[in-house]
Amino acid sequence: MPVRELKSQVYSIGSIDWDRRLFDELIPLPGGTSYNAYLVKGSDKTALIDTVDPSKKEELFDHLIALQVKHIDYIITNHAEQDHSGTIPHVLEAFPMARVVTHQKAKEFVKDLLMVPEEKFVTIKDRETLPLGNRTLEFILAPWVHWPETMLTFLREDKILFPCDLFGSHLATSDTFAVDEARCYEAAKRYYAEIMMPFREKIKGYIQKVKELGVEMIAPSHGPVYHKPRFILNAYEDWVGDGVKNEVVIPYVSMHGSTEKMVNYFLESLMIRNVAVKPFNLSKTDVGELAMSLVDAATLVVATPTVLVGPHPLVMYAAYLANLLRPKTRFVSIICSYGWAGKVVEQLAATIPNLKAEIIEPVIVKGYPKENNWQLLDQLADKIVARHKDIGAK
Ligand SMILES: Cc1cc2nc3c(=O)[nH]c(=O)nc-3n(C[C@H](O)[C@H](O)[C@H](O)COP(=O)(O)O)c2cc1C
Repeated sequence: MPVRELKSQVYSIGSIDWDRRLFDELIPLPGGTSYNAYLVKGSDKTALIDTVDPSKKEELFDHLIALQVKHIDYIITNHAEQDHSGTIPHVLEAFPMARVVTHQKAKEFVKDLLMVPEEKFVTIKDRETLPLGNRTLEFILAPWVHWPETMLTFLREDKILFPCDLFGSHLATSDTFAVDEARCYEAAKRYYAEIMMPFREKIKGYIQKVKELGVEMIAPSHGPVYHKPRFILNAYEDWVGDGVKNEVVIPYVSMHGSTEKMVNYFLESLMIRNVAVKPFNLSKTDVGELAMSLVDAATLVVATPTVLVGPHPLVMYAAYLANLLRPKTRFVSIICSYGWAGKVVEQLAATIPNLKAEIIEPVIVKGYPKENNWQLLDQLADKIVARHKDIGAK
């Protein structure tokens, strides 16, 4: 990617990873990603804000050469995770006078993960400022978005916020700014679901702080820069807010078609009752899509055959993931087919303690669904409709 100027003497100098398809050996990246690093040139000092994944370090150095950077004074480290901090040792090698600027907790992480020695750090505190001459950086500690040491950096004079992972999106695009709002919204929502959702309550407070700063641009560490910050702040306010939608997410698996038959009937039963449905056949689905659907759906209905007493392992995986991501799901139920005996309900219920949801009575059917089973599914749909009335959903 070429160097891109965000404002006079403020550059985006990271790397686009067009081909990457998996993050953290877990998260699918259908649209690639980027590792954004930023260079701020003040009249006295030059600061590099975050670095790039070590696999892309050559590109970062190419950009520094293109900008004829002879001196870096500060490497601002908002987050110690290696896709942003991993190139710090290489930058320090090339620019031995540079100092890593971060707070105490992040310093410990960077020392631990990247073996950067103590003397290379300048340790700052919450709301401390760092003058660059005609420009000033302000640091805002923001723990748990999404590690305990995360921090936001604000370039006061230009009103640019560098929040690292917060507000980011895994999206490889040649657009510097979030001009294709529909595409950016999808990517940012997916990123929020996969990375930020467990920290919803913390983020509420950070959004308030960001609004008080009067930011005019938000430059995250993944994906395009928000030149209209209201776009992403509004989206986040919606996602972290307590409201849920009249939607049912249905992750399911079926080995021989019994569970699938019930799911298909149940989908129609809900649709007839004007409830939106999002089914995910777990043997085919992209788990990122599933995570995204959990951001604001009121209800989760897990459907599974019984396999060796418990739920199918793919269903267990989905339930475990939902539990980790802590969505604001209000109601949960289970649809299950069995052959002789099992403990599907007990095992699934024990897997989702983080979901503070009411469990609606499951539908458990022996073998293939028969005439008297359909009404059980209709009854479950009726119960969901009744509960959704109280959520004031559209
Ligand atoms: C590998 C395997 C293990 C199974 N283990 C159990 C079990 O422990 N308890 C039970 O009641 N049924 C068990 N069954 C039977 C299925 O749960 C039953 O056939 C169910 O109707 C399959 O649903 P499906 O058609 O949606 O795959 C097992 C089936 C398979 C293929």
